[in-house]
Amino acid sequence: MKATTIILLALFIVVSGCKPKPEATSPISEITWGNEGDNVIKLFTLTNKNGMEVKITNFGAVINSIVVPDRNGKMENVVLGFDSLQPYQGTHPYFGSLVGRYGNRIALGKFSLDGNLYTLAINNGINHLHGGIKGFNKQVFNIDTTWSAADSSVISLSHLSPDMDEGYPGNLKVNVTYILTGNNEIKIRYEAETDKPTVLNLTNHSYFNLTACRENILNHEMAIMADSITPTDTTLIPTGILAPVAGTPFDFTVAHKIGERIDQVPGGYDLNYKLRNKTGQLVQAAEVYEPVSGRVLQAFTTEPGVQFYTGNFLDGSLTGFNGIKYERHYGFCLEAQHFPDSPNKPQFPTVVLKPGEKYTQLTVYKFSVK
Ligand code: GLA
Repeated sequence: MKATTIILLALFIVVSGCKPKPEATSPISEITWGNEGDNVIKLFTLTNKNGMEVKITNFGAVINSIVVPDRNGKMENVVLGFDSLQPYQGTHPYFGSLVGRYGNRIALGKFSLDGNLYTLAINNGINHLHGGIKGFNKQVFNIDTTWSAADSSVISLSHLSPDMDEGYPGNLKVNVTYILTGNNEIKIRYEAETDKPTVLNLTNHSYFNLTACRENILNHEMAIMADSITPTDTTLIPTGILAPVAGTPFDFTVAHKIGERIDQVPGGYDLNYKLRNKTGQLVQAAEVYEPVSGRVLQAFTTEPGVQFYTGNFLDGSLTGFNGIKYERHYGFCLEAQHFPDSPNKPQFPTVVLKPGEKYTQLTVYKFSVK
């Protein structure tokens, strides 16, 4: 009797262990989107159990679109982008791109490391911006893995940037993983390794518009969890000091409409905030609420700073999804990053990456409604 029970139990365990897993409800689909040289470019659609949808391409590791519900459940895309590959291959202001090797500016395109002077392209006035002429936003990434579970889906891309690529030292292997969670979050995990000392500052350059571009972003209510900024000269290079935001139009410690004080900021917001993050832990960087749709975006990062940019250079000359002309202030960016010009500012958190070390960053964009 005892032996029979044991056999039955063993059988039960084996049979239940073999049961087919529940059907995945968060599939990833892919299409061929075009070519870059000899490389085939793909566009992937990640979905989660709530029907949230994120499109990502291996060209520039770009986030092409993010479709999320409004407070009535209406699903709409909330980032600026193009409906085909070609405009991404041309000149555009880094829509959705993975920016590297150095997100933001390096003064006069020069920095020294271990006694060697490195010279980079001057592509922004008198300075170097966003990795140079052919930054990561224009590179073809390898598609390492795509993976989906019951409530989430994941894509992992990588790129090998050769020694002296755009003037930066070291063979640099970069990996980025985009995770769409069942909680309506996009988690962006970056990792990188080098074989020579180098500098690195990766960021994502998505332009958000929670109205789905019905209007510009000036009525969005923005809170930035930062008490100080890195003030800049007229070429947007930090002076090297930290300045408190209190009593200035840069103060978003309490939520304000983006447009409320933008007239007091020549050109619009385009500056780096120092987050309350001393040791690289994940902290909240910002919370944005759009009152008509009810959509909320929260940004979290392990980075020490975030560049708040209000699409000041958009001028209607770029046509995006649904034939929309992207006018001035049609999108805002929250670029999680180390501070601009850190290679020339020893007082700023270091951006130096050495052989044997691993660069890591986690940045999370979480969508909800209220
Ligand atoms: C960043 C910069 C801006 C601008 C955009 C791209 O946000 O700080 O000045 O260059 O990228 O147009």
